[in-house]
Amino acid sequence: DEAPEQAAFDAVIEADSRIEPRDWMPAAYRKTLIRQISQHAHSEIIGMQPEGNWITRAPSLKRKAILMAKVQDEAGHGLYLYSAAQTLGITRDEMTEQLIEGRARYSSIFNYPTPTWADMGAIGWLVDGAAICNQVPLCRASYGPYARAMVRICKEESFHQRQGFEILLTLMQGTAAQRELAQDAVNRWYWPSLMMFGPPDDESPNSAQSMGWKIKRFSNDELRQRFIGMLVPQAEVLGVTLPDPELRWDEGSGRWITSEIDWTEFHEVLAGRGPMNAERIRRRREAHEDGAWVREAAAEYARKQQLRDGG
Ligand code: 3HC
Repeated sequence: DEAPEQAAFDAVIEADSRIEPRDWMPAAYRKTLIRQISQHAHSEIIGMQPEGNWITRAPSLKRKAILMAKVQDEAGHGLYLYSAAQTLGITRDEMTEQLIEGRARYSSIFNYPTPTWADMGAIGWLVDGAAICNQVPLCRASYGPYARAMVRICKEESFHQRQGFEILLTLMQGTAAQRELAQDAVNRWYWPSLMMFGPPDDESPNSAQSMGWKIKRFSNDELRQRFIGMLVPQAEVLGVTLPDPELRWDEGSGRWITSEIDWTEFHEVLAGRGPMNAERIRRRREAHEDGAWVREAAAEYARKQQLRDGG
């Protein structure tokens, strides 16, 4: 028979309730959460770079202000998630080192370049749209700090998705050149956004256990299908074409039929050989090193405060 704490843990999971930092948990549960939450946090922080690339070149003050707010939100999302991961026993320094040394995963999607302003629309509409499909179910993840971080993040993410849609709509209502720009960006971001949901279910080593622990609520393919179902009517409103000639709804099986997803590209990007992997890590390392003086000053200030307060 099970050890009493394992039985208590299983009962909480069974009851769809929450595991909190001080609760006993299986070491493998802790390890999976550190893996997923730290990767999620890294994704938010690295995700600031593709969009940051356009803050100084936004076409208007309004667009610049919105993009700055969005990039700041991503930084905040990263901080909530690093804090959630720290409740599991890993430190912020360890996670930062793992990322900077190229030993940490982050979402494949941020390893693609953003050559035109229309990329800001495609990222908001497709990448944040996919993130919403993936993150809403995570609001019900069994680990308390992660689920609560998700609730806050999902509220801000819907603004991100709306502003991306609106950028594309504005371009599609513009000149032929602007419409061409928007369609080109959708062509480049569509397939990588489908890959954000992870490998096909039959090639997803973590899914079964993650779903058993009610961390992952829906499978990779289920969320990918849900995302496509969300995109099709919105693409019609925008007047853009999703770059998959095979895409159609199959009434019989109740699912979207798509062309083959290029999983070789996915694995290349995960192996660090995507178009921008090296650049993203280089920039992140540079930002960390350039910011060292701020950390030292803050630590010194805190030390002096403590001395003064006789701490
Ligand atoms: N990018 C990078 N790595 C990926 C990936 C992707 N798109 N999809 C899967 N992987 C990795 C997994 O991490 C795993 O590798 P690991 O065991 O070394 O960590 C391997 O590929 C196999 O995938 P699995 O399906 O077995 O792994 P998971 O059960 O962890 O599922 C996931 C993958 C669906 C991404 C899940 O980890 C998850 O839901 N993570 C939290 C959500 C997240 O990270 N979203 C990032 C979106 S970007 C974002 O949110 C920013 C927003 O503001 C745009």
